[in-house]
Amino acid sequence: MKLVIACLAATASALVAPAAFSTKAQVRQIATAPQMALVEEGSFVPDMERRNIMNLVLLFGGVLPAVGGLAIPYVLFFIPRGGGGGGGGLPALTKAGDAVTFDSWLGSHKVGDRELVQGLKGDATYLIVDEDKTIRDYGINAVCTHLGCVVPWNKAANKYMCPCHGSQYDQTGKVVRGPAPLSLALAHITDDKGVVTFSPWTETDFRTGLKPWWK
Ligand code: FES
Repeated sequence: MKLVIACLAATASALVAPAAFSTKAQVRQIATAPQMALVEEGSFVPDMERRNIMNLVLLFGGVLPAVGGLAIPYVLFFIPRGGGGGGGGLPALTKAGDAVTFDSWLGSHKVGDRELVQGLKGDATYLIVDEDKTIRDYGINAVCTHLGCVVPWNKAANKYMCPCHGSQYDQTGKVVRGPAPLSLALAHITDDKGVVTFSPWTETDFRTGLKPWWK
């Protein structure tokens, strides 16, 4: 943004004619050698009012669209994307970046599987296949709440166990052993035309009875 403001200031200063250019004689006096070649006796030199109007035309006709062309994408860059699904959610993505469908996932995974996909904000998130051969209606964010390691599922222990500093989480992602201070984040899962779709979990965390810390 500083660059855009600097460009604006430089452009504006270039467009504002100095007061010394108010007469033809003064123009001839101040102009540089190449410019003087263009300012000959009897040639047209617009007065101050006309030049101001021309400056405004240039400003609004050329500079602002150019600045807008830079500034608008710059501002939009910082606005989170909200689209991508009928309910405002984002599709679960495979490692290759393909959208995950319920049919394909359930066709290639068995009951009890917990496998990672790309979730909200690109975070690794577990999809869980439940006993009734459906995908659980929430995903569990695999980013450890201690220092951010991705937490693997340990089937034998029936827990998520962080390899970095030993934190543990139960099968719902609730922290059961530190140093992690918080449970793993949750995200809702809905069906958007057959695509597994994540949306933010903003209501009470059913595991703790508290408001979600990740909001
Ligand atoms: S990052 Fe998981 S316990 Fe430290």
